[in-house]
Amino acid sequence: GKVHYHKWKINYQSWAPDCMQVQVISINGKYPGPTVRAQVGDTIVVELENQMPTENVVVHWHGIRQIGTPWNDGTPSMSQCAINSGETYIYRFVVEKVIPMFDKYGGLVVRRLDWSALIAGTYFYHGHYGLQRSAGLYGSLIVDPAGKEPFSYDGELSIILNDWWHKSAYEQAIGLSSNPFVWVGEPHSLLIEGRGKFNCTTVSTDSSNTCNATHSQCLPHVLIVKPGKTYRLRIASVASLSALNFLIQGHKMTVVEADGHYLEPVEVDNLDVYSGESYSVLITANQDPANNYWAALNVRGRLPKTPTGLAILNYLPNPSAELPTSPPPASPLWNDFAYSKALAKKLVALKGHEEVPPRQSHRQLVFLNTQNKINGFLKWAINNISLVLPPTPYLAAMKYKIRNAYDTTPPPDVYAPRNYNITVPPPNPNATEGNGVYVLRMNSVVDVILQNANTLTPNNSEIHPWHLHGHDFWILGYGDGVFDPAKDPKKYNLVNPPLRNTAALFPYGWTALRFKADNPGVWAFHCHLEAHLFMGMGVMFAEGIERVGRIPRSSMGCGLTRNKFMRHP
Ligand code: C2O
Ligand code: CU
Repeated sequence: GKVHYHKWKINYQSWAPDCMQVQVISINGKYPGPTVRAQVGDTIVVELENQMPTENVVVHWHGIRQIGTPWNDGTPSMSQCAINSGETYIYRFVVEKVIPMFDKYGGLVVRRLDWSALIAGTYFYHGHYGLQRSAGLYGSLIVDPAGKEPFSYDGELSIILNDWWHKSAYEQAIGLSSNPFVWVGEPHSLLIEGRGKFNCTTVSTDSSNTCNATHSQCLPHVLIVKPGKTYRLRIASVASLSALNFLIQGHKMTVVEADGHYLEPVEVDNLDVYSGESYSVLITANQDPANNYWAALNVRGRLPKTPTGLAILNYLPNPSAELPTSPPPASPLWNDFAYSKALAKKLVALKGHEEVPPRQSHRQLVFLNTQNKINGFLKWAINNISLVLPPTPYLAAMKYKIRNAYDTTPPPDVYAPRNYNITVPPPNPNATEGNGVYVLRMNSVVDVILQNANTLTPNNSEIHPWHLHGHDFWILGYGDGVFDPAKDPKKYNLVNPPLRNTAALFPYGWTALRFKADNPGVWAFHCHLEAHLFMGMGVMFAEGIERVGRIPRSSMGCGLTRNKFMRHP
């Protein structure tokens, strides 16, 4: 394959994504960051220079499995040491779906799968340090297939969805980790490809930030189409908090891809997109060509306090500045969860194009999601443990057997007590902090049941989009209430479950996932809502550590690895 070389300078920069001038994290002066594009089998190299004066950084390549390069997953405390201010780090990885195989000496022999072309699809990258994703550090990563796609189109468009706050990510992080707790609140605006519109007239004049309703950076994003043609629209969400619903006025969308895997085509009027998910939809410009049309974005799952985000579907040769003549249709009601569940269940793998899951699993993990308190601080916990990342990255700590780097007692496979009442706030809200690892047997098949519960607020349970690093999983099923280990697995979809890297966990429900632990490394599995991960909503998986290759020293300049490897520069 080809090598795609990129040189990135990362820094804060003044920008007005929703007309309000704030500091965003830009890449080479751009926000959102540049699109990275490669073909299956190619190598991507990103030489990243951290020019931010006071912050560390890492970049995660969301959905890319990093087979053979687990140190380049871009997760601080997990795969690597964060890149200090002024430092340069080189990410290098192959975009190919492969099964790692090993020779008798333990060396990595990568075997391509027959369906290797299927990693082709829609991905993205984003900051994974603190709340830097919220500060604007993200962009598209598109992998083109080596062969043909199972659908056709005349042109391609791509958007990343996001929710946006005017308060800096740093200030948000301070609030989240304070007692009393300061919640980030609902977003000021919703952004489509980095553009939204905040109502400047609501800003008080003594604000140090300026709001300029006609700033060119907050003109709506324009999707340009020719009448009669069909387009593949790639949609991904890096939202910090919001579940989103996307629609295009007057146009149906046919969903054909999710998270880099093909789906049986499903026609929808609007699409729920959870943070961490990506989709491709086909749209045909078959409406009156005299008009332009709105693409609209609304909040779901939380009482919306944020105006609709808007982009323009521009039919050539109409001017892009010509606004649609009628307002966009509404999204489904924010709390119509039945709608969202039905939609999620409709998304199944395209027959004959995707691997089917093994019939059985070797191990079942049941993860209770709860909101908790630790010493008065508000946290999220899994099986009553809130994840606090250690200073030494797990990958090097495990591979080089560094003592005292993390808690070697494994966290519990199943929550206790088993009769925990998920419909009320926890009777004892106190959880514990931890950084233990679920060590998975190499090549074993693992089931994860995510079990949702009531938060600390009565009659409240939230949507959590769970994302797995280093693997794709099959979504075997969704259910309401408490997962029943005797009955519910009988209803699993083992015929055409979608392969994904992100799955929604609905309020008071469960979601069942299955994956093969076939990628040597240490991998995060966490809620993709940025504030939730920051408050401990994640776990660590590890497998095949003895098969991990030599870890570059450049990723080990911190914590206990620093003492071990950096003594003689
Ligand atoms: Cu897109 Cu760990 O995240
Ligand atoms: Cu969450």
